[in-house]
Amino acid sequence: MSRLGAQLLSTHLRTATPKLPLLRANVRPVFEVRFYSEIMSGSGKLKPAARVSGQKQDVWSIINEAAAASPQQPIVNMGQGFFGYNPPPFILDAAKDALDRVECNQYSPTKGRPRLKKAIADAYSPFWGRKIDPETEVTITTGANEGMLSAFMAFIEPEDEVIIFEPFFDQYISNIEMPGGKIVYVPMHPPATGATKTSSAAEWTIDFDELERAITPRTKMIVLNTPHNPVGKVFSKDELQRIGDLCVKNEIIILSDEVYDRLYYVPFTRISRLSPEIERLTITVGSAGKNFYATGWRVGWLMGPADLIKYVSAAHTRICYSSVSPLQEACAVGFEQADAKGFWDETIKDMKAKMDRFNEVWDELGMPYSEPEGGYFVLVNMKKVKVPEDYPFPPHVASRPRDFKLAWFLIQEVGVAAIPPTEFYTAKNAHMAEDYIRFAVCKDDDVLEEAKRRLRGLKKYME
Ligand SMILES: Cc1ncc(COP(=O)(O)O)c(C=O)c1O
Repeated sequence: MSRLGAQLLSTHLRTATPKLPLLRANVRPVFEVRFYSEIMSGSGKLKPAARVSGQKQDVWSIINEAAAASPQQPIVNMGQGFFGYNPPPFILDAAKDALDRVECNQYSPTKGRPRLKKAIADAYSPFWGRKIDPETEVTITTGANEGMLSAFMAFIEPEDEVIIFEPFFDQYISNIEMPGGKIVYVPMHPPATGATKTSSAAEWTIDFDELERAITPRTKMIVLNTPHNPVGKVFSKDELQRIGDLCVKNEIIILSDEVYDRLYYVPFTRISRLSPEIERLTITVGSAGKNFYATGWRVGWLMGPADLIKYVSAAHTRICYSSVSPLQEACAVGFEQADAKGFWDETIKDMKAKMDRFNEVWDELGMPYSEPEGGYFVLVNMKKVKVPEDYPFPPHVASRPRDFKLAWFLIQEVGVAAIPPTEFYTAKNAHMAEDYIRFAVCKDDDVLEEAKRRLRGLKKYME
């Protein structure tokens, strides 16, 4: 391993518990279901709401547990989608400057800081081919995630239906269920030859008859994600047009999650731009955390017609009042200067280079993958990996689909953590992705090289 890589790993080692070096710093909060039942009183009044207590052990805690149990320490974490490096200096410096300014340390307006709304409106107006109004068509949120929660809170009444595609970003589920929405799932179908040959992520497809059948008079919203996590697909113009036409015909609000909008390796279409009829129905979701390598800053935004945005802002005000002030200011500087500094071009070039660098290992091993068209995740098909029949999986992993076993196996045998994508499927459709594993490549090159070195160790388990 190079010096930088060694440094990175040992930094983590120094700050981590002895068993969880690379995984400790960025673990997601885990619901401690046992804890709730332990404290439950006789009257039952301390009983938690079903929306949190009924959850099965989540994938993040299983991966962390696997890492703790692995003899391969430290684990190389290719699982979660956080960056292994800092935002560029011009954005970091802007954050530091903002902290020195009195007004940047106080509440921001609920809809966001005027400077950031203007910077976003100015940055996106050229894509929209018209001037976006920063006052009425943009609202700032606490990450894209809270923005989407605000959108569901604004429009969903109990029993309203929301269509989402599988695999889905896991937060959609609870965000839709909180206002009482009913989720209707439509699967994206993996390429038929996914287990034998590498093909473009474009080959994960929607069956439009299936989509049409999922629409009912109660369908209020549909959630799109392009570029897609975890598939890496960038929906084509034709696909978006067909989805948009169905939404216009049935008057369905489109929540277009475009948090990876600056990371595309094929032409990228924004659904809102396809026609005025579609734009009238579309709320576009953005994330400065993804754009500027700062997922911990929690700055996101929603853009769309004033008639939709005003209700989303109202919900956001009630959920968290307003979002982090100094980091909004820093993101404003990011949007103001990114073009002139060539940052957007660089971000695509750098991430594509990381993707290509990492995927070399699959080409070497003869392991097929879905070649991403955007974003920073790659889905690898591991059907060729033969896990020994008597491998000692703990019961809660043994009872999950094969990808959970593969993820556990990878951590134990080669010390690389990745995510089993059936976590992002319903039980009915999980079989579609049970041979796949998701890797995040937004890591330093030395970390990618170390991961590749370890993954070569899979050779002995391949048929
Ligand atoms: C598809 C998708 N949407 C939304 C988000 C959340 O973005 P943010 O960190 O801005 O809340 C993520 C983060 O992983 C994501 O992958």
